[in-house]
Amino acid sequence: MTIRVGIIGAGIMGADHARIIHRFVSGAEVSFVADIDLARARSVAATAGGAAATDDPLALIADPAVDAVLVASHDSTHAELVIASVNAGKPVLCEKPLAPTLDECVRVLAAQRSAVGDGPELISLGFMRRFDPGYVELKAAIGSGAHGLAVLVHSVGRGVSSGPGSTNASSVTNSAIHDLDIVPWLLDSPVVEVSWHAPRSSSLADGFQDPQLMLLRTADGVLSTVETFLNARYGYDVRCEIVCETGVLALTEPSRTIHDSGLRRGTAYAADWRPRFVDAYRLEVQAWVDALNSGTASPLATAADGLRASAVAAAVIASMNDGGRTVAVTVPSV
Ligand code: NAI
Repeated sequence: MTIRVGIIGAGIMGADHARIIHRFVSGAEVSFVADIDLARARSVAATAGGAAATDDPLALIADPAVDAVLVASHDSTHAELVIASVNAGKPVLCEKPLAPTLDECVRVLAAQRSAVGDGPELISLGFMRRFDPGYVELKAAIGSGAHGLAVLVHSVGRGVSSGPGSTNASSVTNSAIHDLDIVPWLLDSPVVEVSWHAPRSSSLADGFQDPQLMLLRTADGVLSTVETFLNARYGYDVRCEIVCETGVLALTEPSRTIHDSGLRRGTAYAADWRPRFVDAYRLEVQAWVDALNSGTASPLATAADGLRASAVAAAVIASMNDGGRTVAVTVPSV
């Protein structure tokens, strides 16, 4: 069967998902694209095999030509659109974060609960690092125990420049949220307490604190540092190092060529996240489509994973607003 996917949001990520589904994913096609900017929806629809286009995301969700929804619009729209999808009984892959606030995440989980009860869940979440071959290898290496127990994690996320409207809080809920999910996933242990710290801010950051440093303690006792630096300028750079009792595991920077020139040897950095995580996005969306086609549970992050990451983010923001105090993470039960 071919799953007809409706994509909401035709910006950077929506366009990328449309291209990936159209060209690289089997068992699915893009049938509809919605964006409040109709010209943008039309242009992405045209690149995805001639899908229909609309400026009304709710019309897309209701349309019988849409079997499953992919939400790639602004973070602030996620809760409303995911709730509309589950109320329509449609599976939905929501880009991270599930929602910017914990209250919205609770509403989303409650909506899913009333739509499906204890039946199969409809919501999958786009924490694509879980599908990145490097992170998958790291998790397997930790789990093998070959290097003893993990004791420290250093997780670094740097970008070229921040998007418009970035704030201290959105650095956490929009960017560091990846780390707040991947660290407990790697360690198989939930984050129980956090603190937030700020060095001198970069003069290139526009009205907010950049970089930021977070400390996470997981239930297993491991301490993790998370650096988020949106205006690092030199390139998009994601690093992760796991310090174990008898060895250190780290991601390598994927790069296909080395340039020797001008008395230097160097490799290039991507300008944004798409080249770095190209395999992860494809593997994630293929896994989602395969589960829909086979009627099995989605192997992607769940709404509950999104709630947990947002609970950690809420604790980080509480620490940010209280002088870097250590704050316990409380995950609401839904
Ligand atoms: P973008 O700003 O390039 O695109 C967002 C699009 O959503 C715009 O075209 C805008 O017109 C549209 N939009 C806004 N409100 C809408 C509504 N109510 N209905 C329909 N369309 C609406 O943003 P980008 O970078 O594509 O990010 C989209 C989402 O993907 C965000 O939630 C972001 O956090 C997430 N993201 C995930 C990444 C990942 O690695 N998994 C990487 C980058 C972004």
